[in-house]
Order: sequence, then structure tokens, then C-alpha cells
Amino acid sequence: MTRIYLDHSATTPLDPRVLEAMLPALGDLYGNSMSVHSFGRDAERTIEQARDTIARLLNCRPHEVIFTSGGTESDNLALRGPAQSARTDGRPFTLITTPVEHAAITVTARQLQQVLGAALRIVPVDHFGRVSPDALRAALQNLPPDGITLVSLIYANNEVGTLNPVAECAALAHEFGAIVHTDAVQAAGNFALDIDVLGVDMLSISSHKLYGPKGTGALVLRDGVDFLSSHSGARHEDYRRAGTHNTPGIVGTAKALEIARAELDDTTARLSALRDRLIDGVLSRVPDVELTGHPADRLAGHASFAFRSVESNTLLMILDQHGIAASSGSACKVGNPRPSSILEALGYGPDWTRGGLRLTLGRHTTQDEIDTVIDVLPDIIERTRKLSAISMS
Ligand SMILES: Cc1ncc(COP(=O)(O)O)c(C=O)c1O
Repeated sequence: MTRIYLDHSATTPLDPRVLEAMLPALGDLYGNSMSVHSFGRDAERTIEQARDTIARLLNCRPHEVIFTSGGTESDNLALRGPAQSARTDGRPFTLITTPVEHAAITVTARQLQQVLGAALRIVPVDHFGRVSPDALRAALQNLPPDGITLVSLIYANNEVGTLNPVAECAALAHEFGAIVHTDAVQAAGNFALDIDVLGVDMLSISSHKLYGPKGTGALVLRDGVDFLSSHSGARHEDYRRAGTHNTPGIVGTAKALEIARAELDDTTARLSALRDRLIDGVLSRVPDVELTGHPADRLAGHASFAFRSVESNTLLMILDQHGIAASSGSACKVGNPRPSSILEALGYGPDWTRGGLRLTLGRHTTQDEIDTVIDVLPDIIERTRKLSAISMS
């Protein structure tokens, strides 16, 4: 059976050019970057070159790039750094975020509320999953004097692909003296991110979402942000993220970002055309389905749907039997089907919130693959509806 991989928002295959760039760091360049000898200095030089590349591509200063173990850790550092700084200085901490963030933000936010007494304000989103500057403005009112406020806003939604007006929201939040973080994990391979243009103070990226290695990423932390790292140990990354450097991962991150940037225009044009073909095909051939997320302001390779009276775990398993790898985009686990909290936040009712499907295209996706999915999906949905009726009753 030929397999079709349509889960690029979950992870991407390692680009062979990235692997090639990483090989020396997996071999001869094994020195510890903190060692004084030549082995250590070789590793350090390699890491600093990668840092320079990433800083150039994101338009920030090299020392503002902190290497991490990926998006989850970057998000954790971004939220915990200002929260701990506030706590240490005895200042009130307010975190303003949205109901459509990745678990790395939502779970951390709840922990900060419970453990550090952070005040949490959740800004509602519209039916597409987008925050409006007006809603953010409302959430920025009556902040405690002398407090630290952090706004954390997802750039591109992992489940429904919608893009947020990050630059506009960042400018607004700054008027109220807030620090601004964006989770750009899904956006990084899809846009020429420019920290100055976005106007954010912190930005998270993850390498494996852009054809780089897993377990590696970065947090951009601009100078002057109130930040006390939650990741303590030796003096790596200027005391902001302790732990021996993952030299191959760091080299891979820089190379992956470089390739994504060089090929951005071609990739975007190809993927958006395939995505639109897929969306049109599904909407015209399957009854009781809605496109979720914004129809135009969405990630190039991202198609997401809600099917009425469908249980997405069953759907994913049947798709898998047909060799099609997809996801629901939510944290559903087999045996524990839960409604998608993201679809709930977008206003979908109970008939729809268990029926999310995310089909995310990548560099190697072909038109034939898309046409195959369009051909088989109507029958698969019909079968799933029958099975879901049994399991949901
Ligand atoms: C928007 C978003 N943020 C954070 C993460 C976590 O990234 P990582 O897998 O590198 O920990 C993901 C991964 O799915 C994501 O989609």
C-alpha cells in the first residue's frame, strides 16, 4: 500500500541537506562547547555560526537567540521567565493569552496561575480562531500598577491553521507596557519572520516543524525583557538556558531555517494551490462538513475540517488503514475521545467538536496524493459516521 503523509504540522521529515550539514557535528565535532581546549572551541565556533545565521534570518542580535530543546521548552521559558522575574521582585504578574494556544502555553499558564498566583486573562477569538485587537485592548485594561504583564499569542494555529495579527497586537500591547511573546512554531517555516517587523519581545521556534531535527529549537529573547530563567545550571546561553549544547541540533536548526527561507516563495505557491484543491474537493464531495479556521488567512499547507457526527479517532484509524496519515489537531488519545477545546473556542457545538480533521501538506506532497484523498474521503466519512453513531450512542 502506498502511504500518504499529510501530518506535516505534527512533524516533518528531516531534509537530507540538513542531515548532511549536521553530520560533522555528529562526528568529529563532538567537543563540549564550554571546554577550553580546541575540541571545545571547534564546537563553540560551529554553534556561534549557527546562531549568527538564525539571527540574520530572524533579524535579531545573535545573543538574543537562546537554543532550546524545541517549541515546548521555548514556550515554557517565555512564560516562566517574566513570571519568575515578577515574583522575585514582588510585583504582580498578569498573563494574557488566548483559548487557542498549544498545550505548551495553556498548561504552563494554568500552572503559573496555580503555583505563582499569576492573574490569567483569556482573550476570546472569533469563529476562525483569530484574536481581534479590540478584544486584546479590553483585556489590557485595569492592569495592576507596577506589575509585569505578558501577552502570549499564537502566530499560526496548529489545529486550524489561522494566522493572528501579531504585529498589530504587539504594538497595542506595548502601548500598555506589556511584554509580548509569540509562539511561531507553526509559522517559522512558512513566513520570513522578522522580529523587528513583528515587534515582539520573545518568539518560539521548533526545528522539526521545518524539516530540521527533533528535540531542538530556539527562543528569541530581546534585550531588556524582565526575565529570570526557569532553567538553571551552568552558564550556557548566558545563564538563560543551562545544559550542554546540542551541537548537531543547533546546526540543523540553522540549516533548516536557511533552506525554508530560500525556498519560501515556491513552496508557498505550490502548497497553497494544493491546499485549495483539497479544500474544494472535500467541501464539494462530503456532506455536513465545514472548513475550520480562516479561509484565506491560513498556513499555506494547512487544510482543516469539522465533520458533523464524526468521532475523529475512528476517522484517523480508518484513514490510517487506507495509508493516509492525518491528525485531528487536538490532544485526543485513542480510548479517550474528547471534544476539541479549540473547536469549542471557535463556537462549534457538540455535534462538531469531536469531528476535527487536520490534513497538512508538505514539500513532497503531490497532486496525485491530494486527488487520492479527495476520492476516498467521502466513503471513509460515511463509514466513520456509522461507526461513530455506535460509539457515541
Ligand atoms: C504551535 C505549537 N507550539 C508548540 C509546539 C511544541 O513544539 P515541540 O514539538 O518542538 O515541543 C507545537 C508542536 O506541535 C506547536 O504546534
